[in-house]
Amino acid sequence: MNLEKNVPLQPYNTFGIAAKAQALVRVRSEADLLAVLADPQLITLPRQVLGGGSNVVLTGDVKALVLKVEVPGMRLVSETNKHWVIEAGAGENWHDLVAWSLQQGYPGLENLALIPGTVGASPVQNIGAYGVELQDRFESLDAMDLFTGQLFTLDAAQCGFSYRDSVFKHASAGPEGLGLAGRAVILRVRFALAKRWKPELGYLDLERKMAETGIQQPTAQQIFDWVCAIRRAKLPDPQVLGNAGSFFKNPTVTPEQCADIIARDPKVVHYPMPDGSIKLAAGWLIDACGWKGKSVGHAGVYEKQALVLVNRGGRENPCTGGEVMTLAKAIQTSVYERFGIMLEPEPVVI
Ligand code: EPU
Repeated sequence: MNLEKNVPLQPYNTFGIAAKAQALVRVRSEADLLAVLADPQLITLPRQVLGGGSNVVLTGDVKALVLKVEVPGMRLVSETNKHWVIEAGAGENWHDLVAWSLQQGYPGLENLALIPGTVGASPVQNIGAYGVELQDRFESLDAMDLFTGQLFTLDAAQCGFSYRDSVFKHASAGPEGLGLAGRAVILRVRFALAKRWKPELGYLDLERKMAETGIQQPTAQQIFDWVCAIRRAKLPDPQVLGNAGSFFKNPTVTPEQCADIIARDPKVVHYPMPDGSIKLAAGWLIDACGWKGKSVGHAGVYEKQALVLVNRGGRENPCTGGEVMTLAKAIQTSVYERFGIMLEPEPVVI
């Protein structure tokens, strides 16, 4: 184990916010974590797990010991008549895993192409895009308890997945079980990919691609290429313009609330959910309040997708986490005043 002091975190968060970790340990295996737990000084420090930094807003230097997860590896672990089970180290880049699985001939993750971040972060917020969520392909994960050093395995039910949520986002005991935020470090994740692969095409942007190309039965590779093209067209590349993906969750409302909003704003983008609730497009609500292109300091609202907040100052003159949060609060207030809906941020604020 190698303890690093005063480590710049700008390269490790996709917003590109400048902040430092007072102390940082790179976790490449269980042994690195056990060494932290066995160290009489480090054991006393609070800890902050960091993956690809694609879903965090840093509001200052991090005083907790940063555990930067860099566990490597991608492999096929087992195979049944119905599934391939593949496993990846938590430190692998998510998109690299999607590309690798397709190259190896294990389709199923193609709709989740180009989502920034690491494999270890993917279950934390149950990443999702274009009609597929991580929980639809998830098999199990291995993690370590930071208090006891125990290794444990969780299946999907134990992860408590829901829309952009899991036990790893909850700090304390809740109705669904014990929250694991700040307590568990995810080390490896396994995915079950069905051999009888079916394309997932029930999303407007993908239907458009089918119409444009005239391809009615795309391969997994074609869907991968389409998803990459769609994302590149409307989401900023964090390498070019710092951001943390969608900044707010899409809110759900009752049919009555939705009818009320439609009466005032007939164009509101809404999707009926299987449980009878209605999901609204947060990007549309923010856009309707006139936020596209607006800024607070160097934090801004992306011109092509109002749900994405961006760092307009680049690496040289980056926005601060405070500017991002001031902008986010102003957006929340104006959406609340116009629609009566309080948007919930997606990223973790550190
Ligand atoms: N819209 C606007 N103005 C905007 C933004 C969106 O009118 O500024 C409208 C769009 O025209 C569309 C609707 O809102 O009719 C929804 O927009 P979009 O299809 O871009 O999807 P989204 O709901 O904004 C969600 C996920 C994305 C995911 C896409 C595709 C959330 C919070 N976001 O975005 O996930 O890539 O669907 O499946 O659920 C992420 O979580 O970081 C993320 C990028």
